[in-house]
Amino acid sequence: MTTTQTHETAGNDIADKVAHKKLLQWVREIASLTGPERIHWCDGSEQEYQSMLHAMVQAGTAIPLNPNIRPNSILVRSNPADVARVEDRTFICSEKKEDAGPNNNWEDPLRMQQKLNELFTGSMAGRTMYVIPYCMGPLGSPISKIGVEISDSPYVVANMHIMARVGTRVLEAIGNDGEFVKGVHTVGAPLAPNQQDDTWPNDPNRKYICHFPETREIWSYGSGYGGNALLGKKCHALRIASVQARDEGWLAEHMLILKITSPAGEVKYITGAFPSACGKTNLAMLIPTTPGWKVETVGDDICWMKFGPDGRLYAINPESGFFGVAPGTGMSSNPNAMATVTKNSIFTNCAITAADDVWWEGMTDEKPSQLMDWLRRPWTPASNRKAAHPNARFTTPARQCPAIAAEWEDPRGVPIDAILFGGRRGTVVPLVTEAFDWQHGTFLGASTSSETTAAAAGKVGQLRRDPMAMLPFCGYNMGDYFGHWLKIGERAGARLPKIFSVNWFRQDENGKFIWPGYGENSRVLKWVFERCNGTANAVDTAIGRLPRPEDLDMSGMDITRVVVEKLLKVDIQGWKNEIPAMRAYFATFGDRLPEGIRKQVDALETRLG
Ligand code: OXD
Ligand code: MN
Repeated sequence: MTTTQTHETAGNDIADKVAHKKLLQWVREIASLTGPERIHWCDGSEQEYQSMLHAMVQAGTAIPLNPNIRPNSILVRSNPADVARVEDRTFICSEKKEDAGPNNNWEDPLRMQQKLNELFTGSMAGRTMYVIPYCMGPLGSPISKIGVEISDSPYVVANMHIMARVGTRVLEAIGNDGEFVKGVHTVGAPLAPNQQDDTWPNDPNRKYICHFPETREIWSYGSGYGGNALLGKKCHALRIASVQARDEGWLAEHMLILKITSPAGEVKYITGAFPSACGKTNLAMLIPTTPGWKVETVGDDICWMKFGPDGRLYAINPESGFFGVAPGTGMSSNPNAMATVTKNSIFTNCAITAADDVWWEGMTDEKPSQLMDWLRRPWTPASNRKAAHPNARFTTPARQCPAIAAEWEDPRGVPIDAILFGGRRGTVVPLVTEAFDWQHGTFLGASTSSETTAAAAGKVGQLRRDPMAMLPFCGYNMGDYFGHWLKIGERAGARLPKIFSVNWFRQDENGKFIWPGYGENSRVLKWVFERCNGTANAVDTAIGRLPRPEDLDMSGMDITRVVVEKLLKVDIQGWKNEIPAMRAYFATFGDRLPEGIRKQVDALETRLG
């Protein structure tokens, strides 16, 4: 079907007003390639959002939740084989293979485009093609970037409404010739005339999540799941943006942003890089157990940082919602998240209660007596399986979070005082370590490893290197990425944040966590804050600067000194054992590994003796 045969419904009057010739031309090209039944230009209105929810309910994709319990909210159950990011089907199609690096799957851009052209031909038949203009970051911010996602999924449109600024106001911002990142997404399930649609259309056999860093394009085929399909998030705000950041001298990172206020009313902003499903949302919304301290949220997943005129790094949260992992989120672990999701939210792959509310493991202390699990099967506490998928998600507006910082949409961003790098490590890595300087901090981030989680398809609990929590998200050779970090540190006049490594996941000999985490992490944040002010003590060790047990405020906490000593122990032999694996990993980058990182490994080895 060609564009001339495609009839445009609601929103087509928007197309008439679009003055951006290249955008119009591109939309026409994609329509003629994919052959949708109709085109809908998204205006971003509430009415449009409601029509997406309605379409999903009609199609059996979604169930409305009980409006008396969780107003204006739905539960979506995906296909059981389409529940997480697919890292092995994610490609960086840079012109040269070396530019993608060993951290990415690479394919030649021409060959991949050919393959995609085949896959996308007629892929939207019988469906509506949505054109979603979006802005990552507050409109008008010099740090924000614009993109347009074309998708045949109402689930994507509804989620994008929450996660980004979308619609007419974005088209106005692009004007006649503004730059935008192009993203094309199809679930890969064309409909023949009169064919009954699936409740979760996708291509069960083929998935391709492709990035073309030189042309700033994204093509996603076959999956409807969040990180594969909401192209503003991982694909644009991390993979493509990391390339833009490298070229333009800023940082696009997989980091939360939090605001912390001391009892004296002094404010600092801290970012934190943690791998997927390692508690970024919980840390960003933490309720401190340290009296008089306050934490507020600026962002929970992605952070874009640019130098301000004063030489400080200013950060924005490019997103406007949270796409959070539901299991493990409850009134005791994250009451702010629970308050955020009370309304206007989309839940994916959670269980549903008899009263038409959602439930997941960890939401309540007591399990409901009966449920329908995420696979639509009856479930009771005696069932020997999880009721919600471990990567079940909520999509919820950031503005609803009771802990949201007043300045979370400040177009200037917030000035960053400290950066945390964390991983999920049962042994060796202490609770907190301060870097000696920016170069050492870059090395702490670059050498982070973590146990895998359910956020990506594949085995859970495997230890893997995950530098700066960016392994699945860096759109170019990570050797160059380390070099970019080092270069940021060399900028004349820069007033850089301090860098810290943290690990909330230390275990004892029996595999039991020895640090309670959650609100108690405020003890570590307090030390970080005071280190930035120069008012807390630390001792120099072989691996960095560490607090002594008495330097951390553990007052009122049920923890023994022996455990605190264990959490802060510098395990010299453990670190020595890490060095060969670290060297082997860094060697995979060959001559793309910056000398500065090589020197850091040597220096660590020397310090360990
Ligand atoms: C996410 C992820 O969805 O990191 O944020 O997988
Ligand atoms: Mn993430």
